[in-house]
Amino acid sequence: MTNLTMRDIKEHPVPRGSFVLWWLGQSSYLMKSPEGKVLALDPYLSNSCKAIGEQVGLDMDRQIPPPMSPEDLLGIDFYVLTHSHQDHLDPDTLGPYRGAGGHGPYLAPAETVEKLESLGVLKEEITMTWPNKEVVVGDLTIRATFAIPFSGDDLTHVGYLVSVENGPTVYFTGDTDYHDLIAVSVAEHHPDVMVAVINGAFRNMGPAEAARLGQQIDAKVIIPSHYDLFPDNAQHPQMLRTNLNILGLADRYRVLEHGKPYQYPEND
Ligand SMILES: [Fe+2]
Repeated sequence: MTNLTMRDIKEHPVPRGSFVLWWLGQSSYLMKSPEGKVLALDPYLSNSCKAIGEQVGLDMDRQIPPPMSPEDLLGIDFYVLTHSHQDHLDPDTLGPYRGAGGHGPYLAPAETVEKLESLGVLKEEITMTWPNKEVVVGDLTIRATFAIPFSGDDLTHVGYLVSVENGPTVYFTGDTDYHDLIAVSVAEHHPDVMVAVINGAFRNMGPAEAARLGQQIDAKVIIPSHYDLFPDNAQHPQMLRTNLNILGLADRYRVLEHGKPYQYPEND
């Protein structure tokens, strides 16, 4: 099902004051700006987690094929990573991408920088980031946010707030547990859209925590993420809608389709 191509992305129009997202499964997204800048966030376009899962008795066999190939990432403007775990920084996506001529810039927090270097990425290709640091790419500003990591092997997880110049802001939570410091520090940037981890395992928010965070930061649209690929790390996205409904916010729920464009604002 690798039917989405970079040509599709490049040709897709993005009106002024908006952005378009393509969900590639798990926490993988492409984001395009009105100026035509394309970010790849945590691209996981292989099935490399299956073997890792087998080592620890978990079924991490990818249930939905990647909607595009790693080689088709050629043409992105920034390879953006939240942390170093394999469903986010995937050697089997990075390797074919680089093998096809793909290169930086990469944006990554500290331990992910080390992992990138161990995978052969050159120092000069990498921009290190940390919570509150902003990086500008054309008409996009990418600000890393605080996130609560899963385990001691990677304590420098981040999420990202990505803002379009004179346009909306989207908040990617990354993998994180709920913490009121996240709510406080993200809310001041008034994100319009929240892309929320909801799997509820590995110290990540479940649907109730994601709904609560979405309410606290007052996102107008709340999109479930990181629930779809692996049998032993799955969640029903409708449970996010249920929890938003309890808070009187069911109308903010949107579920994305793999490989299909989602534009925000929706009616421009
Ligand atoms: Fe993850």
